[in-house]
Amino acid sequence: MNTRMRSSLLTLCLAAALAAAGCSSEQAAPPAADPAATATAAPDTTADAKAMAEVDEYSYAEPDMVRIKDLALELAVDFDQRQLSGSATYTLDWLDPEAGRLTLDTRDLTIEKVVGERADGKWDDLTFVVDDADDVLGSKLTIAAPERNPRIRVTYTTSPEASGLQWLTPAMTEGGRTPFMFSQSQQIHARSWVPLQDTPRVRFTYTAHVTAPKDAMVLMSADNDPAAARDGDYSFTMPQPIPSYLLAIAAGDLVFKPISGRSGVWAEPAAVDKSVAEFADTEKMIQVTEKLYGPYRWERYDMLVLPPSFPYGGMENPRLSFITPTVIVGDKSLVSLIAHELAHSWSGNLVTFSTPKDGWLNEGFTSYVENRIVEELYGKAQADMENVIARNELAAEYRELDPKLQVLALRPGALSDPDGASSATVYTKGAWFLQFLEQRFGREDFDAFLRDYFDHFAFQSIPTTKFLEYLQPNLIDKYPGKVTMAEVEQWVYEPGVPDSAPKTESARFDAVDAARKAWLADGTLPDKALTDGWVTQEWVHFIEGMPEKLDTEQLAALDAAYQFTGTPNGEIAQRWYPLAVRSGYAEANDAIAAFLERIGRRKLIMPTYEALVKTPEGLQLAETVFASARPGYHPITTGSVEAVIAKARTPDADGAK
Ligand code: BES
Ligand code: ZN
Repeated sequence: MNTRMRSSLLTLCLAAALAAAGCSSEQAAPPAADPAATATAAPDTTADAKAMAEVDEYSYAEPDMVRIKDLALELAVDFDQRQLSGSATYTLDWLDPEAGRLTLDTRDLTIEKVVGERADGKWDDLTFVVDDADDVLGSKLTIAAPERNPRIRVTYTTSPEASGLQWLTPAMTEGGRTPFMFSQSQQIHARSWVPLQDTPRVRFTYTAHVTAPKDAMVLMSADNDPAAARDGDYSFTMPQPIPSYLLAIAAGDLVFKPISGRSGVWAEPAAVDKSVAEFADTEKMIQVTEKLYGPYRWERYDMLVLPPSFPYGGMENPRLSFITPTVIVGDKSLVSLIAHELAHSWSGNLVTFSTPKDGWLNEGFTSYVENRIVEELYGKAQADMENVIARNELAAEYRELDPKLQVLALRPGALSDPDGASSATVYTKGAWFLQFLEQRFGREDFDAFLRDYFDHFAFQSIPTTKFLEYLQPNLIDKYPGKVTMAEVEQWVYEPGVPDSAPKTESARFDAVDAARKAWLADGTLPDKALTDGWVTQEWVHFIEGMPEKLDTEQLAALDAAYQFTGTPNGEIAQRWYPLAVRSGYAEANDAIAAFLERIGRRKLIMPTYEALVKTPEGLQLAETVFASARPGYHPITTGSVEAVIAKARTPDADGAK
C-alpha cells in the first residue's frame, strides 16, 4: 500500500467512524465453503438460506446499503497505451439512511480521484481506499461518503492487462490496417474497465461519451446508430436498466449492413457480406421468439462479428450481441449461436440471475429457448442433433466432474472462480430440465408459463429460490398430478441427471453411426450421396464416435476423403485434432499449430491443448505454439491455456482454472 492509500485509509476510518458506519475492513469476506454441505443435501429453505442465495460472493459491493441507478461514462480510447481513461459518474440510491460509504469492485485500475456532489450542487473530494487485490475478485474500492452524495464520480485509468479488454494490433485484424479493442465483461470482468457494483443484483441505466482515433468506430451495448458518422466522438444511451456484466464496448474498423429494419451486422469490411449471408435468418428468429415469449423489448438487435481471438462463441450484450467469426461456415449450420444470444434478450437480459451461482437461470433457459428457435426454423431433426451433441458432452464431463458442480443452484462457496462453472450443468442440464417440464405439462401450457415468467420478472434479478416460488403455484400446483416439487428439487439441488429426463434421439445420427461402424469394420466410406447432405453436426458426430485412437493409415484415409486436417470449420477441428494427437498422427501438427494460432475461442482450442499436454512431445508442441500464439490471445484464453500447461508440468499442483 502506498502512502497516499495509507493516509486516505486513516481519513476514511475517521470519516466512517463519524458517520457511525464503521471502517470498511469488516466487509464480509466471501463465505467459505461449508465442508458439511454436500451437493446431495436437501434444499435448505430456511430464511437464512434464502438470504444467502442472494449473497454474491463474487462482489465486494453492498447493494443493500446503496445502489447505482445510473452510470455516466466519459472515456477516451488510447490504442497506443492500450488504455481507457476517464471517469464514471454514479447516480445513487441510498437505501440505508445510516450508510456512509460506497464500496465498488475494481481490478487493476488506477484510481486518480473521487468526488461527490453536495446537496447544493458543488463537488467535493472524497477519500477512498483501494485494497490489495484478491486473485479472483480484484480490489475493493471503498469511498467514504458520510453525506450520502446523490452522485459520486471516480476518475480512473485501466491497465493494458485489463482482464475484461482485449487490445489487438492491426496485424491481428482481418483488414490489417486499424487496431481493434473489445470488452468481455461476463462473469466479473466489467470491474477491470469500470469501477462498479459488479454484481447482477444491481441494475442501472447508462450513458457514455467516448472519444477514439477517427479511423475507429466505437460501439457499445446501447443505442448504436447504424448511420453514425465515424468522427472519433461517440455518444450512447442505454435506457433500460442492465446488470454490470452486460456493459460492453468495442472499437475498430467496423461497418454496418442491415438484415432487416431492426437488425443488422457490424463487422470489419472484409467480413460483413459473408456475415450478413450467414445470419440472414435473424429477423425470422426474432419473430419466432416474440411469438413464443412476447415482444422484443430492446428496440434494435444487431450483431458485432469480432476477430477470431474473441474468447467465446457469443456474448449477449444488449442490442449488440458479440459473435465469434468461427460460426461463419457457409451453410448456416452453426447459427444456433445467434438463436442463443438473441434468446438471452428474454432469458438473462430481461430476467437475470442475481448471482453467478444461479448461472442456469440465464444459460439453461437460453439453451432451451435456443433449441425451440432452431426447431421452428430448421426443423426437429436439426434441433435433435444439437441436443444429442450437448448431452453426449455432458455424459463425458460427468464421468469426472465434482458432484457439487453438477447441481443447478450452486451452494455458496462451491465455486471459487465463476468463470470455472460447469457448462454441461449450467447449459445442458438446465435446458434438459425445462424440456422435461415442457414434455410433462405439454407445450401449450409450458409456453404460456414461460411467457408469464418473463413478464413477471422483467428487468429484475432473481435467485433460483425465487424461480421455484413462482414455479410451484403457476405450474406445478396449477396442473396437479404432472410433476412433484420433489422431482423439481432433484433436478435443481442434486448432482447428475434424473432418470426421468426425456430421452434424446436423432434418426440422422443413427445414419452417421451406421456409416462410422461400416468404415471401422472394413474401411468402406459412406456413399458420397449421403455425406454430401451432412451438416457440421453430422461430421462432429462421425468423429466423436470414433475409438480413442485410430491408426495413422485410417486417419490418412479420412483426410484423403474429407480433408479434416486443415478444415476451416472450428467445430470439426475441435474434435479432429484431439483424435489426431491421441493417435500420434504427426502429419496434422502443422495444421494444429496454425489452428491454435489463428483462433482464440476457448471452447474450440482447449480440447487440443488438453490432448497435447498428455505426452512429452505434445507438451513441447503446446508450449511452442502457445509462445507464438499468446500475444494474439485474449487474457481469458491465456489464463486457461497457462493453467493446462502448468498442470501438465507439475501434475500435483492444482493449476486448473
Ligand atoms: N453468456 C454466455 C457467455 C459467457 C458465459 C461468458 C459465462 C462468460 C461467462 C453466452 O451467451 C454463451 O452462452 N456463449 C456460448 C455460445 C452458446 C451457443 C452456447 C459460448 O460462448 O460458447
Ligand atoms: Zn448464453
